[in-house]
Amino acid sequence: MAGYLYLLLFTMPVCISCEASSAVDTMCTEITVNKSYSCEGLGLTEVPEKLPVTTEILDFSFNLLPSLQNSTFSKLKSLSSLDLTRCQINWVYEGAFHNNDHLHTVVLTGNHLLFLSDTAFVGPQSLKHLVLTQTGVSRLSFIPMTNLDNLETLILGSNHISSLQLPPNFPTQNLKYLDFQMNNIRTITVEDVSVLQKTSNVTLIFKGNDILYIEPGAFQSSFYSLDFGGCTNIPGILAGMQNSSAHTLWLGTFDDVQKEPYISPDILQGLCNITVEDLYLQLRHFKNLNAATFHCMTKLRKLDLTHTHINALPPGISGMKVLTELILNGNFFEHLCNISAAAFPSLTHLHLKGNSQSLQLGSGCLQKLAKLQHLDLSHSHIESSDCCNEALNGLSGLQHLNLSYNTKLHVHDVLFKEGTNLELLDIAFTQLHISTSQGPFRNLHLLQVLNLSSSQVNTSIQHLFQGLENLMLLDLSQNIFESGIMPKNKLLQQITNLEVLILASCELTAIDDQAFHILRKLRYVDLSHNKLITFSTDAFSNLKSIYLNLAHNRIQIIPPDKLVSLSGYSIINLSYNPLECTCSNIGLITWYKQNLDKIEDPEKTTCFEPKSLAGAQLSTVTLYCGISTMGIIAVVLVILSCVAIFIWSVRYFRQRYQQI
Ligand SMILES: *[C@@H]1O[C@H](CO)[C@@H](O)[C@H](O)[C@H]1NC(C)=O
Ligand SMILES: *[C@@H]1O[C@H](CO)[C@@H](O)[C@H](O)[C@H]1NC(C)=O
Ligand SMILES: *[C@@H]1O[C@H](CO)[C@@H](O)[C@H](O)[C@H]1NC(C)=O
Ligand SMILES: *[C@@H]1O[C@H](CO)[C@@H](O)[C@H](O)[C@H]1NC(C)=O
Ligand SMILES: *[C@@H]1O[C@H](CO)[C@@H](O)[C@H](O)[C@H]1NC(C)=O
Ligand SMILES: *[C@@H]1O[C@H](CO)[C@@H](O)[C@H](O)[C@H]1NC(C)=O
Ligand SMILES: *[C@@H]1O[C@H](CO)[C@@H](O)[C@H](O)[C@H]1NC(C)=O
Ligand SMILES: *[C@@H]1O[C@H](CO)[C@@H](O)[C@H](O)[C@H]1NC(C)=O
Ligand SMILES: *[C@@H]1O[C@H](CO)[C@@H](O)[C@H](O)[C@H]1NC(C)=O
Ligand SMILES: *[C@@H]1O[C@H](CO)[C@@H](O)[C@H](O)[C@H]1NC(C)=O
Repeated sequence: MAGYLYLLLFTMPVCISCEASSAVDTMCTEITVNKSYSCEGLGLTEVPEKLPVTTEILDFSFNLLPSLQNSTFSKLKSLSSLDLTRCQINWVYEGAFHNNDHLHTVVLTGNHLLFLSDTAFVGPQSLKHLVLTQTGVSRLSFIPMTNLDNLETLILGSNHISSLQLPPNFPTQNLKYLDFQMNNIRTITVEDVSVLQKTSNVTLIFKGNDILYIEPGAFQSSFYSLDFGGCTNIPGILAGMQNSSAHTLWLGTFDDVQKEPYISPDILQGLCNITVEDLYLQLRHFKNLNAATFHCMTKLRKLDLTHTHINALPPGISGMKVLTELILNGNFFEHLCNISAAAFPSLTHLHLKGNSQSLQLGSGCLQKLAKLQHLDLSHSHIESSDCCNEALNGLSGLQHLNLSYNTKLHVHDVLFKEGTNLELLDIAFTQLHISTSQGPFRNLHLLQVLNLSSSQVNTSIQHLFQGLENLMLLDLSQNIFESGIMPKNKLLQQITNLEVLILASCELTAIDDQAFHILRKLRYVDLSHNKLITFSTDAFSNLKSIYLNLAHNRIQIIPPDKLVSLSGYSIINLSYNPLECTCSNIGLITWYKQNLDKIEDPEKTTCFEPKSLAGAQLSTVTLYCGISTMGIIAVVLVILSCVAIFIWSVRYFRQRYQQI
């Protein structure tokens, strides 16, 4: 009934647009020549004649096609992917795609489908992806299963399905992804899903359905991922899933779902009868969080407790010998020791970012995590007066350490004594106070990436980068250099393997002529958003293939000889500089036009002076600064000075003569 009303409501706009369509049907945009076109939102009522038969990908969304006939797409024989989102399609007739042999993807999102012919999908030799989100489907029998044997993805989100009832001829051979999110499924019986017993490694999405009961034995096969996000009856789900296995099980919830039910230890007991590797419990609330809560998690490899409102993991958790990844983001830990690290001896990845209160690092809290490789402590309000030897005690295998977006770290000697395996260190947006004259990173011989962006680090410390002989990427953006000058001093001398250097927004006004000479491997330099008034490639030693970003500076003039050495595959970004387009800058302009292949963002590389040329792209400017004009000026100057000398000597001699 609702469907007919819907149809009626849309009859009028359809007719109004009938007249308009012929005028616009040529406006589809070509994305890839002969292959990919977008006709999105053009109010079309038919497929434009002009689309080439070679079209493979067609975005025809937001048009008006009340029905799909066997002629609608018959000309586009090469079609492989067709997006028909919100085209007000109600009827899909016999053989609608009969001529589209290669079609593998059909998106019908947001069309209120009233009729799908039994042979609607006949034709394509291998239809793989069918998207029926928001199409008003209320039962699976509405979807013709003919010719869907190759189906890999079926998306039926946001419909009115209340009973699964997968038909016996449901295609399972190649099935990988089945999405029923936001429907009204309350119960799942063995019969409903028995056909899935033939599958393996399928992803099955039920989030946003309030599933109350799953008949035990319904899910017997092994799944890749099962998503019951937002469901309230967790014990019911787990009981129904007994003896099944899933790589990933999603039992989290969403912000807008109420607190109930609390996760108490008994709620997760059903996990004991299921084989799961990765478990997600995002946004759940725990009640009586104790060691028993983890009783059935001993086989987990990954546990995600993001935003679970916890301030400690209980002592006494045992048996979690295979857990390698623990995610504790967005919680309320007071102290790093509160995570009971000793219970997770095999952990390689620990994420504790976005802690809601200031996290105390303590001393040796993670000592038992001998296998830890990745530690993320970003955004956790960390303030440490003696960072971070004690805190990271025992973590000699650590490779990645993220301390970005914290409050303040004081380093009195080396930052991390056992960090000899560290490859990446991110301290961006954390105030770093170094009170050692020796390098705080001097033992990090394997470090490849160091991010000190906006860390207020004292760049005058000569030995800052001592020992970082393997460093490849250094981000120093948003730090200040003494008197605004990038000097040729000891600072960079020790990091001779550097390839990427980011010095954006450092308020630099000048760069020493040899500042980067020692960095022979440098291939990417970002000097954007500084206050440089000129530029010279002399500062670099290797200019064969380098990327130089000088955008957003104050460069007006670049002398011609300062760019010529930029050769080969180099790229330079000079956008947003107040460039002068006068004869005094003819060197740059001439070089620029001859080297357009090296210019990034030419649209934004424009003249600032003179006013008559302001905003013009540098590549379009033609100046006449021939020798003739210069010559004339020179000649005039010479003549004027001769005259002046003559007058002066006449006066001089006359005076002397008179004296005699
Ligand atoms: C596009 O198709 C036309 C007509 O078939 C053909 O002449 C042209 O070479 C094709 N262009 C490309 C880039 O394939
Ligand atoms: C297309 O449909 C029309 C009318 O329903 C029918 O007469 C015609 O035979 C069909 N063509 C093909 C190729 O199926
Ligand atoms: C299982 O499915 C996932 C996701 O579709 C895929 O990444 C993985 O390779 C598959 N595993 C096997 C063994 O086919
Ligand atoms: C699960 O497996 C156990 C032991 O093999 C068996 O006793 C039980 O009946 C099975 N449960 C279901 C629902 O099949
Ligand atoms: C585990 O499965 C057995 C039968 O196999 C059943 O008796 C038991 O209640 C199940 N445990 C939980 C916690 O569901
Ligand atoms: C967290 O750890 C600290 C230091 O070990 C301890 O004093 C505190 O009681 C712990 N807090 C909780 C909630 O367990
Ligand atoms: C460190 O964490 C921040 C914030 O969570 C993130 O933006 C950044 O990408 C991380 N660094 C690395 C190297 O992954
Ligand atoms: C620091 O730099 C690294 C490497 O470019 C990057 O992956 C990371 O996201 C940066 N950190 C932040 C907080 O932006
Ligand atoms: C930065 O380091 C230099 C050299 O070690 C020192 O003289 C200066 O006082 C330091 N500046 C600050 C603000 O600590
Ligand atoms: C040139 O550099 C500016 C500043 O970093 C950047 O915004 C812009 O995207 C760059 N241009 C291109 C084409 O990447």
